[in-house]
Amino acid sequence: MSFDDIIDRRGTHCMKWDMMEPLYGVPRDEGLSMWVADMDFRPPACVQNAVQNMVDHGIYGYFGDDTDYLAAIQWWMQTRHGWTVDPDWVFTTHGLVNGTAMCLDAFTAPGDGIVLFTPVYHAFAKVIKAAGRRVVECEMALDQGRYTLDFDRWDAQLDGSETMLILCSPHNPGGRVWTREELTQVAEFAKRHDLILVSDEIHHDLVFPGHSHIPMAHIDGIEDRLVMMTATTKTFNIAGSHVGNVIIADPELRARFGARMAALGLSPNSFGLFMATAAYSPDGAAWVDDLMTYLDGNRKVFDEGVNAIPGLSSVSLEATYLSWVNFEGTGMKREEFSRRVSQDAKIAANAGPTFGTGGEHFLRFNIATPRARIKEAVARLTDAFGDLQ
Ligand SMILES: Cc1ncc(COP(=O)(O)O)c(C=O)c1O
Repeated sequence: MSFDDIIDRRGTHCMKWDMMEPLYGVPRDEGLSMWVADMDFRPPACVQNAVQNMVDHGIYGYFGDDTDYLAAIQWWMQTRHGWTVDPDWVFTTHGLVNGTAMCLDAFTAPGDGIVLFTPVYHAFAKVIKAAGRRVVECEMALDQGRYTLDFDRWDAQLDGSETMLILCSPHNPGGRVWTREELTQVAEFAKRHDLILVSDEIHHDLVFPGHSHIPMAHIDGIEDRLVMMTATTKTFNIAGSHVGNVIIADPELRARFGARMAALGLSPNSFGLFMATAAYSPDGAAWVDDLMTYLDGNRKVFDEGVNAIPGLSSVSLEATYLSWVNFEGTGMKREEFSRRVSQDAKIAANAGPTFGTGGEHFLRFNIATPRARIKEAVARLTDAFGDLQ
């Protein structure tokens, strides 16, 4: 298998390709799908084999004994992130949007303010609102095309009604890998305002050369208010398996979270556990290294092409395969640049405002697709904005 292989995903109940016409009006036959965050690549052979073994055996009963699964998580976090995880700290949820919702349920009350550094992954605000909590948007600063954290402004903004901060680390869609100094400041901010800190690190394996991800758990003095969230799903392109991990070292927080899990009768799906156990392995690790080399090539082709179009500029990605493109320089209203992308270029890209304040002039493009499609996208965008040349 090569990352260059074009796999037609249409007609497979796939959100990314089968929903682009209903949601974005981008025609199914000619459209390029660059929105929701999954990749157009098959996962590594070790994951495929795990599913094949299940199919060969042919019995799909209840899963029992998660020792191997927990050991695989432990191994991955230790070898890839230098982070020692005790299996007792791990809760397996139905993915991390569910993990976020569970944290809101376990640690906050209706009406509480939940802090987000915006623009940020849109599902956070969705579950916060659906749970009857309030989104408190702390807008990041964009400093010469790079997002930074603006604690002085946010200290003045918070009013004491906030109880939780959800951090996205690395950041989607800003592409930042937060530095140790920034993470330390986030921890101090959480302490200063007495916030539970939920660190969503789902993109932690998707880091480009020259940057290294630091788990929030490595920042001192935050253990008693920290909830870590990780998953195999983004890294290995198995989002449909809906498995994520909420990892809590603090015994009191763990008891509260465990009580909510028990009350809701939650237990994981066996496909997800088999796939994740197989993924967190030396073979899986080698595949991720190859994947990042390929994505780095895509990132360069996409950035070079997009930044050559007058008025467009992409934020330089330190991590993730989600390119965040600023259209402000076109001088066009959002409706116009969005129309050109969806109707003229026939590309489905996520609308910036769904990521909150600061996203108004942006669209998010998923670049985890064969290189030929990246080149095609660049050509289409160049044509669609050709009158600006
Ligand atoms: C930061 C972040 N968290 C969570 C998710 C989705 O997690 P899940 O599919 O496990 O619900 C995404 C998907 O893009 C994401 O970017």
